[in-house]
Amino acid sequence: MEHPIAVIDYGSQYTQLIVRRIRELGYFSRLYQPSELSETGNPAAVILSGGPRSTLEENAPDIDFELLQEMGVPVLGVCYGMQLLNTKFGGTVAPGNTREYGPATLTIEEGVDGIFTGLKGNSQIWMSHSDTVSGLPDGCEVMGRNLDGVPVALRWNERFFGIQFHPEVSHTDEGTHILKNFLGRATDLPDFQIDSFKDELVAKVRDEVAGRKVVCGVSGGVDSSVLAALLHESQVDTRNIFVDTGLLRKDEAEEVNCLFDGIGIEIETIDASERFLSALSGVADPEEKRRIIGRLFVDVFFDAVGDDAELLAQGTLYPDVIESATSGSIASTIKTHHNRVDRIMELKEQGRVIEPLDELFKDEVRQLGRVLGLPERVVGRHPFPGPGLAVRCPGEVTEEKLKIIREADDIFIGLLRERHWYDSVWQAYAALIPTKTVGVKGDERSYEYALSLRAVTSEDAMTAEWVHLPYELLGEISNRILNEVPGVNRVLYDISTKPPASIEWE
Ligand code: XMP
Repeated sequence: MEHPIAVIDYGSQYTQLIVRRIRELGYFSRLYQPSELSETGNPAAVILSGGPRSTLEENAPDIDFELLQEMGVPVLGVCYGMQLLNTKFGGTVAPGNTREYGPATLTIEEGVDGIFTGLKGNSQIWMSHSDTVSGLPDGCEVMGRNLDGVPVALRWNERFFGIQFHPEVSHTDEGTHILKNFLGRATDLPDFQIDSFKDELVAKVRDEVAGRKVVCGVSGGVDSSVLAALLHESQVDTRNIFVDTGLLRKDEAEEVNCLFDGIGIEIETIDASERFLSALSGVADPEEKRRIIGRLFVDVFFDAVGDDAELLAQGTLYPDVIESATSGSIASTIKTHHNRVDRIMELKEQGRVIEPLDELFKDEVRQLGRVLGLPERVVGRHPFPGPGLAVRCPGEVTEEKLKIIREADDIFIGLLRERHWYDSVWQAYAALIPTKTVGVKGDERSYEYALSLRAVTSEDAMTAEWVHLPYELLGEISNRILNEVPGVNRVLYDISTKPPASIEWE
């Protein structure tokens, strides 16, 4: 797309949220590394993100300031970005001893024409910094301060602005308004509409595929289903392969086979459940389990593909791309454990992997799926991890445990759907706690497993809050599981946020 709003990544954990907020405002935005400023393709505006480093450090991440000025577009520095700009304009930054992290109040300076028009002021902002700007260069105006009178918003000239807080996080009350005001100063703002984006994607897929044969692994999940639908729409020659790992939810294999019935997409199913279960036998270490599943998956998949795969299509999304960013980027690799297996990396190096969804966030993929005609049941589906129920079964995975998880999960998800909670939850599942505890069933003493139910809301799985499901509903779910699922005598509800917990149990 022409003229993206370029967000330069200095490594803050919130950087991709800036991109997301801008897209929510209806404009196209993309993330770039500081060294990629010249590759931003005539941006409509540039935002320099926050980051964990200090401008005072040797080799601190920098920006080509001359080029940035030549671009002639509005520029906003956020936290680190603001400090960097201040030094570029000739001001100074002072080291902080501790990291200030948390809420503050924004007071707006009267009479400074900046990016605070229409704000009510005295609203909460979210700070996260250690250094602060100390000396302001000539011509720099203060647009806002905190309650201690410390400048938290600067304007160096009519195009360059800086804020010492995060407008992208929901804890900054008027953050979206500030971003909107800032973007209002740009001309030629690039629209982001999913239907026109779809046409662009179709053209891009055709171009990339260039008549070659594509294989696509489908799992029944949103991403791979949308990918299969996009390939179908692009009319490229595709084989869709579904591997039944035996680690799926109840009736899932049958469901996946029917998912695309109305749309004319064919799926080849490979039942490898026995291979997976025997490979996992006796293995309790979570990383080892992941490795086994990942490797076997690739083996089974490529055995099925044979020599047929000129190109492999993957449903990698934008957050995955950023999170798996290599050492060449500043963004810290939070999650290294996802299914990135050597073989796929090899194909990647040979230019034989296409990832058409890699610029999209999950909810955008859902919108794309709707535009491509996928049913709501598919596009509205909760995310499901590649290693399946194995990450919901800490310790050794056995058929007995999987059966318990499947039955309990089916009851839990069924009731969430029935009581209209499913769509307001990002993800929900039952995990088995691999310890037996004592209970009573009838007149008998029982010694059985406990289950943990987890339901979370999330922004792209980076952070998560547990859902305050009504007690009555939790009670009903628990009763049904205890009555209907043999082998369980205890049900717990997981009230951990991410961080520090993760979404899955592993
Ligand atoms: P965690 O447990 O890391 O999960 O908080 C974040 C999100 O990622 C999903 N997840 C995976 N998805 N392959 C995937 O495709 C994986 O190996 C994997 N591990 C976790 C998890 O379900 C949640 O939505």
